[in-house]
Amino acid sequence: MRIAVLVSGSGSNLQAILDAAASDPAFAALPVVVIADRDGIQALDRATVARVPTEVVAWSDFTDRAAFTKAVCDTADRYDVDALVLAGFMRILSPEAVERFPILNIHPSMLPAFVGAHALEAAIAHGVKVTGVTVHFVDERVDHGPIIAQVPVTVRPDDTVASLQARIQEIEHRLYPSVIKAFANGLLETDGRVVTWKDDA
Ligand code: GRF
Repeated sequence: MRIAVLVSGSGSNLQAILDAAASDPAFAALPVVVIADRDGIQALDRATVARVPTEVVAWSDFTDRAAFTKAVCDTADRYDVDALVLAGFMRILSPEAVERFPILNIHPSMLPAFVGAHALEAAIAHGVKVTGVTVHFVDERVDHGPIIAQVPVTVRPDDTVASLQARIQEIEHRLYPSVIKAFANGLLETDGRVVTWKDDA
């Protein structure tokens, strides 16, 4: 399976995916392009080091979400990709993307709690004792699609956003490659909102 990884920032999840693709012969997802919504981010450097082509579809070049989404999808199409993998991609894509590709996303909370860009801050402010990581298929709504996998993370009384994020990212870097591997191997079945992992996944 050929995948495009979409990024906006440091790209630590991208790195975990690149490492899995390079080291695990059974990792059936091949990152063929990394697409960023801005230039000058660390994720692009990581892709270059791994010799994966990069493309920048700059959000700032567009006046509306639909045109931006079309440009991202057309870019992915040029690389003949089968799926999009969002890895810290901070833009909301319009419905055209979901119509054109299966899309995976990773989110730092136990969805449906704390959707949106400030999930860690919101979890701490709300005083929850447990938050976590969710990997889900993307649908037309933000942080809403069918849930593939979740791992809980305990919130400690003295946690800051940084300390909580460090533990969450440790989980993310193991969880996301394992989900992508199962997806690429055809081991995920979706029935409405419910995703089932086949026995050998
Ligand atoms: C991750 O924590 C992910 O859950 C969220 O954005 C962050 C991206 O981090 N969607 P990185 O760019 O992969 O380091």
